[in-house]
Amino acid sequence: MKVNYSLAILSVFGGAVLLSLSGCGPGSPSSEGELNEEQLLLQAGQQRSRACMGCHGPKGLSRVQSYPSLAGRPQAYLEGRLRAYRSGERSDPMMSSVARNLSDEDITALSYYYASLPGADSND
Ligand code: HEC
Repeated sequence: MKVNYSLAILSVFGGAVLLSLSGCGPGSPSSEGELNEEQLLLQAGQQRSRACMGCHGPKGLSRVQSYPSLAGRPQAYLEGRLRAYRSGERSDPMMSSVARNLSDEDITALSYYYASLPGADSND
């Protein structure tokens, strides 16, 4: 019994070492410190999303049912919605006034950013 127990501890430790060794996978900052186009777009979207968090949640996951979650929705869908609010094709007392102030670049960056976030049914 005692031997089995220490073996179990050993394998737990072994696993922990392996995990920490593989800690520098994808997602770690690039060594050059330069951002590619995709990262720039994400960054721009993230900055602009401060204006949306209050209603749509900090990561695009809203806790209030009347505010739809945006995380993980297709970019084209989000972009289409924002353009429709802006043009008046769709109208909502809150979104219409928010969308009125968005440029084409804002809409692209915001929808790209929200589409990149894990949605509510994701395991992340
Ligand atoms: C004052 C609260 C509020 C703020 C701030 C706000 N929204 Fe909204 N948003 C809403 C509400 C409410 C709806 C649902 C309106 C409807 O039913 O048409 C909505 C809907 C949307 C939709 C359509 C979602 C869908 O599935 O139909 C998108 C996309 C969206 N918002 C993006 C944004 C972005 C991007 C920002 C920041 C620039 C933002 N919203 C800021 C309240 C807000």
